[in-house]
Amino acid sequence: MNEIHHISVIGAGTMGNGIAHCFAQHGFNVSLVDTSKDALQKAMQTISVNIDRQINKQLLTPDDKTHILSRISTNSSLENAVNNSDLVVEAIIEDEQAKMNLFRQLDNLCKPSCILASNTSSISVTKLASCTNRTDKVVGMHFMNPVPVMKLIEVVRAYRTSDETMHQIEEIAKTLDKIPVRVNDYPGFISNRILMPTLNEAIYALYERVAGVEEIDTIMKLGMAHPMGPLQLADFIGLDVCLSILNVLYKGFGNPKYAPCPLLVNMVQAGYLGVKTLRGFYYYTPDKKPSGVAV
Ligand SMILES: NC(=O)c1ccc[n+]([C@@H]2O[C@H](COP(=O)([O-])OP(=O)(O)OC[C@H]3O[C@@H](n4cnc5c(N)ncnc54)[C@H](O)[C@@H]3O)[C@@H](O)[C@H]2O)c1
Repeated sequence: MNEIHHISVIGAGTMGNGIAHCFAQHGFNVSLVDTSKDALQKAMQTISVNIDRQINKQLLTPDDKTHILSRISTNSSLENAVNNSDLVVEAIIEDEQAKMNLFRQLDNLCKPSCILASNTSSISVTKLASCTNRTDKVVGMHFMNPVPVMKLIEVVRAYRTSDETMHQIEEIAKTLDKIPVRVNDYPGFISNRILMPTLNEAIYALYERVAGVEEIDTIMKLGMAHPMGPLQLADFIGLDVCLSILNVLYKGFGNPKYAPCPLLVNMVQAGYLGVKTLRGFYYYTPDKKPSGVAV
């Protein structure tokens, strides 16, 4: 069995920086790769701020911070970063073609024993595996946002993922102090098949002006004991990510109940993507706190 020491994380956005942080916190050496140098720089700043939060909560010490940061190297070239990796976790944009291209490249560049995992929220892992010559070593490793805080990893078994690969990913999830839960590979798996229609319905309710942004979120927080309202959660996930996942569900099941609300489509086309652009259903301050309703 392939021992896992060196990890590469591809994509340094909302999820990639959290995944890199989490592996480095648990002693792994991580190469964090992004085509954008700006994204890599922002990712390291975010990791630093998030470790400071853990220090303030007395979960980590300042010494831990030095060690964690020293285990992460950043790279804008895929070739240099992945040739020695035992596990690659892909966390680039939720775009099927982009991910398929990347899996083709990874299959050529990585050693044969390397496991290729995707953090995709909804795209077929079986389809990504079909772009490689190692279908038994391709798996979904679906972390939740924010990665350093959330316990769940949905481990997605593609059609030809081997038992050994499933077992290795489950073991490594436990090393990260997470709880792995197995699911089979169908659009949206379990988490997003249930969550996204809920968020979309909240956006439809706003679009039809059944209630305002704060009213919808307050009803779901106080009435259903959700820690965050659905519109704020959509902002937090990224409205572009939500739209991509709904499109995968809509196409994958061919059922109109998954059709994305036109308001969501408009907001994404206008560039209002939620927390990452400081505007979605709410405005956000640069330190990502909501500062008023935007819709
Ligand atoms: N945002 C969430 O809450 C969430 C939760 C779970 C899973 N996911 C999934 O995680 C993945 C990443 O989502 P995100 O929210 O972090 O996206 P994001 O838009 O914040 O970041 C994506 C990053 O990928 C980079 N990138 C794009 N193409 C690349 C390539 N070919 N090589 C290297 N880097 C590339 C971009 O420059 C960007 O920095 C998606 O598949 C998404 O569905 C997201």
